[in-house]
Amino acid sequence: AEAGPPERHEPYLYELAWILPSIAIPTAMLVAVVIAAFGMGIHLPGIAGTVDPAQLRETPPFDNPGLSQIAPNHYQLTIVASAWQFQPNEVRIPAGAQVDIVATSRDVIHGFEIPGTNVNLMVIPGRIARTTVTFHQPGTYQFMCHEYCGVGHHLMWGRIIVEG
Ligand code: CUA
Repeated sequence: AEAGPPERHEPYLYELAWILPSIAIPTAMLVAVVIAAFGMGIHLPGIAGTVDPAQLRETPPFDNPGLSQIAPNHYQLTIVASAWQFQPNEVRIPAGAQVDIVATSRDVIHGFEIPGTNVNLMVIPGRIARTTVTFHQPGTYQFMCHEYCGVGHHLMWGRIIVEG
């Protein structure tokens, strides 16, 4: 009698041992992301709302970029980024004041960074980015776009003059 092919359960189980985790691990990660995003309220840092980038000229506060006082020692700085400039590109702020920065983009993804501070935003069309900063030391602080946005990227900068 001819011998039949040997029974081969082991390779199948071995494959299964790899296939199951390769399904289970991404599924568990996806579930964790969904729980974090919706259950725990965790989202992209600095993203706080949406706005139609085609309607910025009619939509407060982006219809009037710049610094406005909202309370004693408390200001809002509204920034509109576009290729390749910031509006405004020069701001004077009293030292020690709380400054709420609200930024968006008119066109492509830009960045807004003030080196030496906590300010480091992705400025995405359609999204409103927010952060808060206090300048304790008088002086001139440069800000710039730190997301590559085309040939004029290096022109996208401005300054905040903190007055003591
Ligand atoms: Cu805007 Cu780089």
